[in-house]
Amino acid sequence: MIELAPSILSADFTQLGAQALTAIAGGGTVLHVDIMDGHFVPNITIGPPVVASLRKAVPDVPFDCHLMIENPDEFIPAFAEAGATWISVHQEACVHLNRTLQLIAAHGCKPAVVINPATPVRTLDEVLDIVHHVLVMSVNPGFGAQQFIQGSLHKIESLAKIRELSGLPFRIEVDGGVDLTTVTDVVRAGAELLVAGNAVFGHGDIRENAQQLLQAARAATMTRA
Ligand code: DX5
Ligand code: ZN
Repeated sequence: MIELAPSILSADFTQLGAQALTAIAGGGTVLHVDIMDGHFVPNITIGPPVVASLRKAVPDVPFDCHLMIENPDEFIPAFAEAGATWISVHQEACVHLNRTLQLIAAHGCKPAVVINPATPVRTLDEVLDIVHHVLVMSVNPGFGAQQFIQGSLHKIESLAKIRELSGLPFRIEVDGGVDLTTVTDVVRAGAELLVAGNAVFGHGDIRENAQQLLQAARAATMTRA
């Protein structure tokens, strides 16, 4: 099932709750929350207190907390407490990835793993049976509104193939540069959780943007290979 996960990174942070609700009104069913520490990625965003405030404004949709931080184990309890529903960690940031994914589950959240554009899908072979989803980065993480990296499409295709052959239930998410010009390709490749920041919040009417993107994504499922 196709779902749109608006990324609040491109929202106006003075109106965070209201803008998140508008994107949900436009069809967003998951809220994508980017956590950056200025070390793993060259940018800083928000921490658990903001997530907790946002949770009060948006009580009913899953929060997809994408941790772009070093030492994620140290912060998983705080994000779980703040209201995260899904927590994803980067394969590149986790020396003990299995342990970190178990820690997320132990705190009552759905564990997920993320790979950067330069990280091969095969590095995930041993964790695919314990993740709720795999997030394929289609830009180098750190900023919104970057250009989609075409090479990520074959990684989505590989994951879809592995899933089909293995029968494992993990979902496939894509993050970075998803807009009306790229959404058809990512859906055809096999992604079903679509993160979009700039395309939803960056310009124009948030609700309409979300609706149009979702409509284009659903249309693409009709022509899936
Ligand atoms: C980038 C973040 C993304 C970002 C995507 O590091 O992980 O979630 O918000 O933004 P767009 O959709 O603008 O590329
Ligand atoms: Zn993200």
